[in-house]
Amino acid sequence: MSSCDATIALRLRPAALTLAAALAWAAAAPVAFAADGAAMAGPGLGRAASAAEVAAEDISIAPDGATLPPGRGTVAEGAAVYETKCVACHGEGGQGGKGTAGALAGGIGSLASDAPNKTVGSFWPHATTLFDYVRRAMPYDSPMSLTDDEVYALCAYILSLSGIVADDAVMDAKTLPRVAMPNRDGFVAYWPRPPEK
Ligand code: HEC
Repeated sequence: MSSCDATIALRLRPAALTLAAALAWAAAAPVAFAADGAAMAGPGLGRAASAAEVAAEDISIAPDGATLPPGRGTVAEGAAVYETKCVACHGEGGQGGKGTAGALAGGIGSLASDAPNKTVGSFWPHATTLFDYVRRAMPYDSPMSLTDDEVYALCAYILSLSGIVADDAVMDAKTLPRVAMPNRDGFVAYWPRPPEK
């Protein structure tokens, strides 16, 4: 079967797309065919990524926080970083800025009301996601510029703004995953499906 046949078969029978078929397809896909039908090794673009390059991009933090890096930060340290790198967009005390940058705190208890206020504090189910997000995406105009210590400190500060951690809290790879977010039970797992009640 040529790779074209494989494409058509997979499109016609999506339900039959097993993991094995997907893997076979993935393995077959890079093989391109020249005009005369001879197989080429590939399109001849790019090069294999080095282990260091993969590691630099491999920064996802799952809810359990298992891959959180070393480092630590306090609420006070986070407040200082916030004043220089975040306040312009997110406003004093994370109350929200003038543009598209929303509030980072407040709104706890508002989700079931007519005016739900979704913030990190009121909406996000896992504190560890805050580390992942801030490290990869903020400041908006300079992403991935923060040190891990700064990110831990910002997590401590932002969580303290909603009263989720105390003002003397220290966030690190052990304490952050233990933070209980107010809306931790407010999401329904789509997969794996929860057992029928
Ligand atoms: C130049 C403006 C700007 C700066 C500076 C900035 N942010 Fe943001 N931030 C945004 C915007 C815009 C969004 C919304 C992004 C989106 O929805 O894609 C956002 C989203 C966020 C969110 C997600 C909020 C939510 O509920 O979805 C967090 C958390 C956050 N920023 C934290 C920070 C922190 C911490 C800093 C400082 C290190 C920072 N931001 C600096 C503009 C900014």
